[in-house]
Amino acid sequence: MLKACIFDLDGVLVDTAKYHFVAWQRLANQLGIAFTETDNEQLKGLSRDASISYILKKGNIVLSEYDKQHYMAMKNEWYLALVNTMDESEALPNAKELLINLKDNNIAIALGSASKNARLILEQTALLPFFDSIVDGTRTTKSKPDPEVFLTAANDLSVHPKEAIVFEDAISGIQAANVGGFLSLGIGEPTVLTEAVWVYPNLTSLNFEQLINLYNSKF
Ligand code: BG6
Ligand code: MG
Repeated sequence: MLKACIFDLDGVLVDTAKYHFVAWQRLANQLGIAFTETDNEQLKGLSRDASISYILKKGNIVLSEYDKQHYMAMKNEWYLALVNTMDESEALPNAKELLINLKDNNIAIALGSASKNARLILEQTALLPFFDSIVDGTRTTKSKPDPEVFLTAANDLSVHPKEAIVFEDAISGIQAANVGGFLSLGIGEPTVLTEAVWVYPNLTSLNFEQLINLYNSKF
């Protein structure tokens, strides 16, 4: 029986990639490294640490751990300045409606995100009250495709992975869901999210009834 839905944040419920792009590009440029939209795509789902490592590698730059932490903190300050301008209107279409619809039907709801800023973003966009569990970058040590983030969420909700659907926009997140034994629902392009059980371009056509039908079709 479907008991829970676990949502990734960035790219599923909110479009923060555009803010990450501005902040990472500013940092990369300061270090004399070019940073394009294509680079930004590569960073989807990666932790902050893995993201700066990608940029430094691209620019052939080696930094001490101290300097790396310094630049990561600077990038996060720029990113947070943008996050602080977010409001309810930045929840992606049908995100809030779907969460309400799931709640009304007694489906438990969790967040499974790599972001250490997840709680603030949920607050800014007024989505925080819908979550029974929040597993973010402050609670995990292994990044996706490791299933830790989703398994922790399932544990919080006292559900078995088989009883939950994971919503993800990143390949690594789909892999994490699959490895963890969850049913994965990709948000994006079927040609990119080839390992997802189902793929939808966004949340707009999804509701409780349809998710139940999708889920039941697998058992
Ligand atoms: C993921 C994003 O959700 O969180 C990544 O897709 C981001 O782009 C990662 O790097 C970490 O986010 P934050 O907010 O902790 O820097
Ligand atoms: Mg994402």
